[in-house]
Amino acid sequence: MLEDYKKRTPKSEKLWFRANKVFAGGVNHNIRNFGMLSAGAYPPYIKSGKGSRIWDVDGNEYIDWWMTHYSDILGHCHRSIVSALRAQLEECIHIGALNEHQVKFAEELQEAIPFLQKMRFCTTGSEATMYGTRLARLFTGRKLVAKARGGWHGGNDAVGFHVSHPYDDEPYYNGLSFDFNDAESVTSLLKQHGKEIAAIIVEPVMGAAGGIPPTDGFLSFLREETEKRDILLIFDEIITGFRLSYGSAGSNIFGVEPDLLTLGKIVAGGMPFGLYGGREDIMGLAAPGAKGGRWVGGGTFSSHPLSMTAGLATLAELKNRTSQYTQLSQKGNRFKQKLNEAFDNVGSNNLATGFGSILFISCLSKRIDEPLTGTKVGDVFDHQKQDLFQAYLMEMGIFGYHGLGAMSFVHSDEDLDKTLLCAENAASKLLGNE
Ligand SMILES: Cc1ncc(COP(=O)(O)O)c(C=O)c1O
Repeated sequence: MLEDYKKRTPKSEKLWFRANKVFAGGVNHNIRNFGMLSAGAYPPYIKSGKGSRIWDVDGNEYIDWWMTHYSDILGHCHRSIVSALRAQLEECIHIGALNEHQVKFAEELQEAIPFLQKMRFCTTGSEATMYGTRLARLFTGRKLVAKARGGWHGGNDAVGFHVSHPYDDEPYYNGLSFDFNDAESVTSLLKQHGKEIAAIIVEPVMGAAGGIPPTDGFLSFLREETEKRDILLIFDEIITGFRLSYGSAGSNIFGVEPDLLTLGKIVAGGMPFGLYGGREDIMGLAAPGAKGGRWVGGGTFSSHPLSMTAGLATLAELKNRTSQYTQLSQKGNRFKQKLNEAFDNVGSNNLATGFGSILFISCLSKRIDEPLTGTKVGDVFDHQKQDLFQAYLMEMGIFGYHGLGAMSFVHSDEDLDKTLLCAENAASKLLGNE
């Protein structure tokens, strides 16, 4: 397989050789260094994308499930986003002053998510969670931030800990963790530290931890427990926002409103973007000169006109898709079920997880029961098999990370059928059946 791959990807191999001379680990995002590395291979370099398909520099075509880290729900290079960007480029790239688009964009977002009483834009999701947790500390006068084990909220020091199993790294700065879907683990943490915790930050559906949906009532339990103790609840909806419905999954799908919210990815149509916002009394501390406030915000590229215009074009496309969102989620759930049936058929422990259009496949050393938690998945996660599974899929023309990725509005039945067949085939190969 390695020999075949090398034959098909000579340009990627040359680029990878050069990349390792200039980048630590050859990449600028850790997960992009790809599961074939341990077998002596290298990642494909991607040149272009259209709809659900992408092409590497050697001309190989892939069905893309990664979809720009879950951002491209409309498919790659959607017509209206490209034309909005072209029109903006004729005006300016970025001036570093105010622009009209940012006001319109914020108004649209507030209309979609009314509890965003006030918001701030930044350039990445990592900045959004950094500023969100900073505001929580300022507002409550408390130091600790708690997160769910396995959760990825970006690379900043406030939340970039206990991401990888066994979650025993020393937090950089005043951090604690608990298990998602495990009320006991939350209660025991709150018993010990309830008075020192400024905020609990969670994704309504956990992403990088393995596509873990909340059990019934878990998010409302977090809401009640935080409210009782004057702890702020932050929903990190950088993946779930505008993916499961038009707006916040926390409130639209699970019926829970947080105090603060972070958004990114989908919202700006594939351009760099982050947002933190929510209750006006908390967000007021971000205003210049606010009593009790500290420096919050900044960023040379915040409210970049290209991100604003791509975001406006994206929201215009998504706004009237209420029934299509439902269909997409149903299609995602059905696909997940079919994947699990296929894994059962070949006797594989692989598990497809997720919620609606969020789709993960984890290679596990043994089966686990619901409810899923970051620790439960981490305990039995087989990294070597996962790498090989990704490599097999890639070889068959399926591109994804974390086992798969996210379904977009443009993934066709043909894309799904081919992916299902390849996933079954790859699972079977992992068992040594071919
Ligand atoms: C839930 C979640 N929060 C935060 C981030 C960080 O966002 P960014 O990569 O834009 O810094 C990510 C990125 O993958 C994410 O999935």
